[in-house]
Amino acid sequence: MRYRLKLIALPIVALLAVSAGFVYVHWSKGGTGAGLYSRHWSPDPVQGYWDPENFYQSTEIVEGIFEAELCVQCHEGITPGIVADWRASRHALNIDPVSCNDCHGSDHQQLRLPTPEVCGKCHGKQHGEFQDEARYGFPSHVLAMERALDAPHFADKPKAEVQSCVQCHSVATKCDSCHTRHRFDAAEARRPEACVTCHSGPPHPDDETYFASAHGQLYRAEGSDWDWSKPLIKGNYKAPTCAYCHMDGGRHQVAHKSLWKFGLREINPHTSKNQVLRKRWIKLCSDCHEESKAAQWLTDLDQERKQAWKKLYKAEAVLKDLRSEELLRPAADERPPYPMGSLWQRERIGFFEGQASAFYNVSAIERDYFEMWYFENLGAYKSAAHGSMAGIKSGHDKMAASLDRIETKAKELRNLFEAEQKGEIAPAPSELWMKGAYTDYNRDHN
Ligand code: HEC
Ligand code: HEC
Ligand code: HEC
Ligand code: HEC
Ligand code: HEC
Ligand code: HEC
Ligand code: HEC
Ligand code: HEC
Repeated sequence: MRYRLKLIALPIVALLAVSAGFVYVHWSKGGTGAGLYSRHWSPDPVQGYWDPENFYQSTEIVEGIFEAELCVQCHEGITPGIVADWRASRHALNIDPVSCNDCHGSDHQQLRLPTPEVCGKCHGKQHGEFQDEARYGFPSHVLAMERALDAPHFADKPKAEVQSCVQCHSVATKCDSCHTRHRFDAAEARRPEACVTCHSGPPHPDDETYFASAHGQLYRAEGSDWDWSKPLIKGNYKAPTCAYCHMDGGRHQVAHKSLWKFGLREINPHTSKNQVLRKRWIKLCSDCHEESKAAQWLTDLDQERKQAWKKLYKAEAVLKDLRSEELLRPAADERPPYPMGSLWQRERIGFFEGQASAFYNVSAIERDYFEMWYFENLGAYKSAAHGSMAGIKSGHDKMAASLDRIETKAKELRNLFEAEQKGEIAPAPSELWMKGAYTDYNRDHN
């Protein structure tokens, strides 16, 4: 009897839990922001430009429904730069010009800022490819906005610190990231400058590593003489740019060859799926290099990654030991609670336990590991991927130094604990830690 009851109760509980989960996710998306944590933040007006679909509201200062010529005439005086760029664009020069109202609408009180769908009406191929990138999962351009808004640290941190997330991740929500408005120039998008506004800085130093490579140096030395009106295919360019390698053939996807992706975790490059991706890379390099040589360079990248992960796993092991001995100080339950809260505060170490919490609100030794993993490791990775020899060396030197520091700090923590046990020093006053800059207490209601 009791057994039968269990048999019936279990599926019912499971069903209730699953539906409660769905209801919760639906509810959490119903706030003034967007994404999973929409109830924890509200948009600033400027976000209407970066994420027009979710947040743009038309200006209502000008009233009227206008023909294309009137838009141009009036805006010649108000925004002459925009009109000049538009006039020089293929849109204006087309036999049947694509004008202001085609993209923004004609009613000045109900203007829209064009989403990728609007461009897609005339550029089905590019828009279709762009959409289709979703099947490669994260990271990818088409999913970038979702990724940023659904990251807990987006909603957890003060607004001033996270405003920029939306700007870079807007590559998903509008088409003017690489061919800027209002020229919408394909030639501009082929050059590396089109990418590095977003692809730079410690977690993703693509700018720094590309320009330190033979390819980047050639671009610097000779790029001004190349004919940028040509498409990105074999024979047209002497050295590759970002788009040549990542958007070969003009394909509007950047994830279709990625193995190592962002570089946050170790992968096995030898799975059959990854071998397919690797072959795509080798084929691309052989536009200009011998195939076997290109294959060797990419194997060198895998070797570099293996070395990096050896160091990272060592550091993770030190931290995990400290955690199991309860020596991480302040421990998770002694730290300021994340504003978004978590029922169970615990120390999270490495990618698989949750990366967001590694950014801040952690003890000093965990922060050391975060910097080793997120900055030094990713710097070494991108150096190896892009051919910056100096970057590989300095990345690994820094990782070795960090590992050393982490091991020394672990010893200090053990010594401190011993002293504490013997009553030689008093335990650290944990209350001090509970009121940091990111806490519930200080929250600025993002
Ligand atoms: C009589 C002059 C006039 C005409 C005609 C006109 N505009 Fe404007 N437009 C303005 C002014 C002024 C602003 C700035 C409004 C503001 O600051 O809120 C503006 C702003 C805009 C903006 C920016 C909105 C924003 O939120 O930043 C767009 C886009 C725009 N106009 C498109 C158009 C289009 C498309 C047409 C034709 C259908 C058009 N305009 C016709 C005067 C005009
Ligand atoms: C091919 C589509 C397209 C055409 C044609 C076009 N625009 Fe735009 N416009 C855009 C995009 C994309 C943005 C950026 C939207 C965003 O930031 O979300 C924009 C932004 C704007 C803005 C506000 C942002 C800023 O830079 O101040 C104004 C004003 C504007 N356009 C005016 C015009 C006028 C005037 C014309 C005609 C001369 C025109 N646009 C033609 C696509 C277009
Ligand atoms: C009403 C149709 C229409 C819309 C909407 C439209 N375009 Fe275009 N686009 C065209 C036409 C037509 C051309 C010129 C094609 C040619 O000359 O072969 C063009 C050309 C281009 C080019 C190539 C320029 C070059 O240098 O070769 C780019 C890039 C581009 N559009 C981007 C966009 C973006 C981004 C949007 C949305 C913000 C957009 N277009 C919206 C019709 C449109
Ligand atoms: C407006 C900012 C912006 C611009 C400009 C931009 N990107 Fe990105 N890119 C991103 C963001 C944000 C991501 C991470 C997306 C995510 O979180 O899933 C990304 C991801 C990528 C990835 C990773 C794909 C993967 O599977 O690992 C590649 C490769 C890439 N971009 C290449 C380029 C190239 C090449 C250009 C220039 C032609 C470029 N990007 C221009 C913002 C940008
Ligand atoms: C300077 C531009 C820039 C800013 C600012 C930025 N990102 Fe990114 N972000 C990127 C790029 C580029 C990548 C992809 C790097 C790669 O694949 O090598 C990325 C990757 C990511 C990823 C990992 C995607 C994945 O699936 O692995 C997340 C999550 C993310 N960003 C969230 C955020 C949040 C949250 C913020 C704000 C605190 C932020 N980003 C600010 C450019 C930016
Ligand atoms: C990550 C950078 C990037 C983004 C984002 C991007 N493009 Fe492009 N686009 C390029 C590059 C690079 C080229 C040149 C391709 C080539 O050489 O064949 C290009 C070329 C084009 C062309 C001209 C194609 C031709 O053969 O003349 C059109 C049209 C276009 N893009 C539309 C779009 C639309 C629509 C979107 C948004 C869905 C978009 N682009 C977003 C980088 C980008
Ligand atoms: C010679 C070709 C080449 C050039 C040029 C190049 N990259 Fe890469 N990039 C690679 C390779 C190879 C990888 C490692 C891919 C892998 O194994 O996942 C990579 C990795 C990346 C990644 C991580 C995501 C991924 O695809 O694995 C991003 C983001 C990226 N590059 C952006 C850029 C940017 C931005 C530029 C220009 C500043 C650039 N790349 C120039 C070949 C290139
Ligand atoms: C569009 C042509 C082109 C493509 C595509 C290309 N390269 Fe190169 N690469 C060059 C040129 C040109 C040089 C400079 C050769 C020299 O120094 O004489 C170079 C230099 C190099 C070097 C420096 C070592 C050396 O022999 O000078 C490496 C490593 C390299 N490429 C790797 C790659 C890899 C890996 C890929 C594919 C992910 C790739 N390249 C794709 C043109 C290309």
